[in-house]
Amino acid sequence: MTRVLILGANGQVARHATASFLETTDVDLTLYLRRASRLKNPAPKRAMIIEGDVLDHMVLTDAMRDQDVVFASLAGDMAGQARNIVKSMREVDLKRLIFISSMGIYGEVPGQKYRNVLDPYRDSAAVIEASNIDYTILRPGWFTQTPEVDYQITQKGEPFCGHDVSLNSLSDLIVKLALDPTLHVGCSIGVSQ
Ligand SMILES: NC(=O)c1ccc[n+]([C@@H]2O[C@H](COP(=O)([O-])OP(=O)(O)OC[C@H]3O[C@@H](n4cnc5c(N)ncnc54)[C@H](OP(=O)(O)O)[C@@H]3O)[C@@H](O)[C@H]2O)c1
Repeated sequence: MTRVLILGANGQVARHATASFLETTDVDLTLYLRRASRLKNPAPKRAMIIEGDVLDHMVLTDAMRDQDVVFASLAGDMAGQARNIVKSMREVDLKRLIFISSMGIYGEVPGQKYRNVLDPYRDSAAVIEASNIDYTILRPGWFTQTPEVDYQITQKGEPFCGHDVSLNSLSDLIVKLALDPTLHVGCSIGVSQ
């Protein structure tokens, strides 16, 4: 049985991915968030909730014990969070990380220069890329609520294609990555329709 730890579990992408995991897989989930009273457990038999800040090293490390996959969908001090995630994963010998970043961090979107608004995404990606964990960094386009699952992937060094991506598409990819320990490992991938 695969166990997935979801960091930032009350965020938009995390809640969408949580629903996809529960609907389409039999994985067990640990939902990690600040101020846990905001989140109703969506499936008490398969999900547990931990209140914690990703910057709190002890709580984070404890939450990582006995997990198989970490899925991080965060905001704010993302470089500090990435450093803590990598450190805690090393301590408990946990290998697999799926980390949500953003399109544009390498200047890969034709005609767009996002500059310092993307610094937290760029810096956190650099921390993860310098680690020796089995990471996949996702660089999605702008999220849409449209129902289709229809996306393409671009690798680091290639120009980003398109602009948007549906949350359904993103969750489809997140679930596939969590279930396949070899899929896009060591890659930072653009995801767009
Ligand atoms: N909107 C787009 O089209 C788009 C496109 C590409 C990338 N992105 C990026 O993708 C990421 C996920 O998007 P989203 O819409 O799901 O964002 P979101 O709803 O703002 O979720 C981010 C979550 O991160 C949590 N968080 C921040 N710092 C934390 C910490 N120290 N410890 C624990 N949790 C922490 C927040 O928790 P609290 O609720 O406690 O603050 C929040 O629930 C964001 O960084 C976003 O900017 C967005």
